[in-house]
Amino acid sequence: MKTFDYLVLGSGLAGLFCALKVAAHGRVAVITKKQRAESNTNYAQGGIAAVTSKEDSFEMHVRDTLAAGAGLCREDIVRSIVQEGPARIAELIEYGMRFTEREIPDSNGARELDLGREGGHSKRRILHAKDVTGREIERALLAATEAEPNITILEDHVAIDVILSHKIGMSGPPRCVGAYVLDRQTGEVETFAAPVVVLATGGCGKVYLYTTNPDIATGDGLAIAYRAGASIANMEFIQFHPTCLYHPQAKSFLISEAVRGEGAVLKNAQGVEFMDAQHPLKSLAPRDIVARAIDSEMKRSGADCVFLDITHKPARFTMNRFPNIYQKCLEFGLDITKEPIPVVPAAHYQCGGVVTTADGATEISGLYAIGEVACTGLHGANRLASNSLLEALVYAHRAAQHAQTHPQPPISGPIPGWQSGQAQNADELVVVSHNWDEIRRLLWDYVGIVRSTKRLLRAQKRIANLQEEIQEYYWDFVVTSDLLELRNIAIVAELIITSALRRHESRGLHYTLDYPNPDPACAQRDTVLQRTAA
Ligand code: SIN
Repeated sequence: MKTFDYLVLGSGLAGLFCALKVAAHGRVAVITKKQRAESNTNYAQGGIAAVTSKEDSFEMHVRDTLAAGAGLCREDIVRSIVQEGPARIAELIEYGMRFTEREIPDSNGARELDLGREGGHSKRRILHAKDVTGREIERALLAATEAEPNITILEDHVAIDVILSHKIGMSGPPRCVGAYVLDRQTGEVETFAAPVVVLATGGCGKVYLYTTNPDIATGDGLAIAYRAGASIANMEFIQFHPTCLYHPQAKSFLISEAVRGEGAVLKNAQGVEFMDAQHPLKSLAPRDIVARAIDSEMKRSGADCVFLDITHKPARFTMNRFPNIYQKCLEFGLDITKEPIPVVPAAHYQCGGVVTTADGATEISGLYAIGEVACTGLHGANRLASNSLLEALVYAHRAAQHAQTHPQPPISGPIPGWQSGQAQNADELVVVSHNWDEIRRLLWDYVGIVRSTKRLLRAQKRIANLQEEIQEYYWDFVVTSDLLELRNIAIVAELIITSALRRHESRGLHYTLDYPNPDPACAQRDTVLQRTAA
């Protein structure tokens, strides 16, 4: 048994920021599935939304967030996160984050933060590091984390489940006391004991066939929390990013919304700017509207993609502002300064998640959820672009503080080790890969941008069968990371489908042909699911 004061699952912005904050008070283990930088954060291009300019205000940021959230945001939460943003950004800069700056005109060379614009924002307020903001965040926070003697980062470690005191016969009120973790290198399952466990495992984009997310985004923390009995809310609200590069060799490459923020325009194959008829903000309308318009344009015309055109901007500007996108597209033979970029929508962000308090605490004592895995009330039915890294920063800080002010008793007594029973080595790995593919295609085809009750019911039936098969396989065979991820995405799929079937209206990111309008009676009503006791 390995004992720590804090166990943080995930090494993106939320996990690392929280680890750094609690490290002053005890020993911290950061568990990460692959290499330490491999997180959703690392791929974030756009940036962090925060009010830092005189032309902007908290009120405007709150208003934009509420408008995107389509009646489901919790206004008190939105307000407090927006107001706390600048203080957390200042700390991030202290940890070494370098945001892009620009020279202030007529100021003798004085500089200020360069602010980008994205869909749904009424002002320029996105702090960024060119178009590789997430990579720069990871660089800065990993350097700070590695310099902190109280933090141990364990790569190639996959959390299986959290350990609950009442399930192992430990005395005292029920609480979370650690986690079972698979070491991918040795194949051994290790027991980690800790009175505070923080889920910072990111989202679940890999549940869909096409996604902007990296391979690690399999909803692990969400599935772990659900199995442990925590409430999960609003999983029907999956955000599809409108512009993922469409190219046979490109896997999950995002074309940042900041490109539209700088004037790029969506066109169909005939060069028609089809967003003009859809929304006053045209190509810079909120994401749900743009993604649906692209979906409908592709279905109407039978085309495989639409196009994003920034060729009217000076080439030097594009290459300087979007060096990563420019270079990556060039590798695929596409010069974005001269030709439009073929794009399609792809699953991008999970707006729902594990229900938390304003401090990131879940209903299970000692268990916190922060970042994309959590549902705090900020995003409502549709996340405003670049609000997620802001939320991750604020909640990492709050969870760290709450864990200090509400200390858990130390863990008394040993925790039983992982029992693998009669499990054998898996005989046919094809079962795992087949079920993975089936779930991802099923979700893309039946639970995508435009839904219907008939398709959702069909998907529900298939997922139930797959779950049964996966469950048998799980008990019969020794756990591997592929099997663990499969078990997790199957649960995530079930939660998305069940939530979508429960919402009898269209709102924000959830659009269904059977209930095409919002129902005022459903405003402010979350879809909450909780596992019935096993
Ligand atoms: C983007 O760069 O378009 C992604 C930003 C976000 O999802 O918030």
